[in-house]
Amino acid sequence: MPGSDSDRIASLSVVDAIAGYYAVKAIDALVVSGAMQALADGGTLKQIAAGFGFDEQALLSVLRYLEKTTDIIELRSHDSSHSATLSRKYRASEVEHLTNLYVGAFGPCCDRIAEILRGSAKCDLVDLRRHSLAFVSDGPPDPYLPRLLREIRVSRLLDIGCGGGDLLIHMASTDNGFTGVGVDSNREALERARGRCAASSELQSRIEWLECSVLELHRSLSPEVRDGLQALCLRSVLNSLFSDKSLVKVVGVLGYLKEMFPKRILIVADYFAKLREPSCPSGSYRRTLIHDFAQLASAQGLPPAEQSGWETLYSQAQVSLIQAFHYAGDGLDHFIHLLQL
Ligand SMILES: C[S@@+](CC[C@H](N)C(=O)[O-])C[C@H]1O[C@@H](n2cnc3c(N)ncnc32)[C@H](O)[C@@H]1O
Repeated sequence: MPGSDSDRIASLSVVDAIAGYYAVKAIDALVVSGAMQALADGGTLKQIAAGFGFDEQALLSVLRYLEKTTDIIELRSHDSSHSATLSRKYRASEVEHLTNLYVGAFGPCCDRIAEILRGSAKCDLVDLRRHSLAFVSDGPPDPYLPRLLREIRVSRLLDIGCGGGDLLIHMASTDNGFTGVGVDSNREALERARGRCAASSELQSRIEWLECSVLELHRSLSPEVRDGLQALCLRSVLNSLFSDKSLVKVVGVLGYLKEMFPKRILIVADYFAKLREPSCPSGSYRRTLIHDFAQLASAQGLPPAEQSGWETLYSQAQVSLIQAFHYAGDGLDHFIHLLQL
């Protein structure tokens, strides 16, 4: 049951949708200013307003709007003093992740829906700074991928599209023998990954970060580094390559990796899209539908909805699927595919 939301709240009225639009603008302002974390820490409105240079009455009005239209803010008033906290249902990092991703990074694309309707949407509207902020988590990544890497004894991994470096940093921090190379085309993501290792000479010696696109790996990796890699990982990266119906981009990337790293293990971790499925229950897949919409708005296209669609891709690229794992989390149907190039 991906997502625990019931169908009851699946269909927003026009007024609900507009209320949500204003609420998300307010939430975004609190995230961008850093005030969301301050709300999670709790405090009087006077303290929070003073800390961020806000007008206390304006802050009270914005928080009151959020309190009345969403479940994220709790406000308490005593005489003329007010205090506010983020609801215990949420961690600030969770609100920040969702807001950075769907409002900050993909928001500019959603401002141009007319271009999607005309079939001329472009990827270049994604705010890469906000996107990189969304992929720096404060906890370990979900346990399945690290567990699989340990089970198949991968101790030297190339993480392609490594984002803020969650996976490699987690693996290297929990296994003294683990080394890795993280590559990403987004400079800001790599700066965050490097920054997270800055305080640890141990991590710096065991993880190398390279700014490059997947199709430039032949230029960026030395033959020694390339030969020393045991496995490759593409976690939430292939889903960005479905803009063309012919699937030529995604098959092209898989074919390129097969040529560069013959016989090596490739792990693909991604999700099944739902937007094109007429029978998909909208309540339980609300988060997936939001994600699918962001994929469309940013011209990344929709990845396959089923295992068979991914298998077709692999067979076109002549890559062998060894094992498939499925699991639900964050309201998305995730999978991990273990492949041999
Ligand atoms: C959704 S994020 C996932 C980040 C990380 N793998 C994770 O799961 O936390 C996708 C990442 O892939 C990177 N990316 C997308 N296309 C890429 C390409 N062609 N070459 C290298 N990196 C790419 C993006 O910059 C972004 O950091």
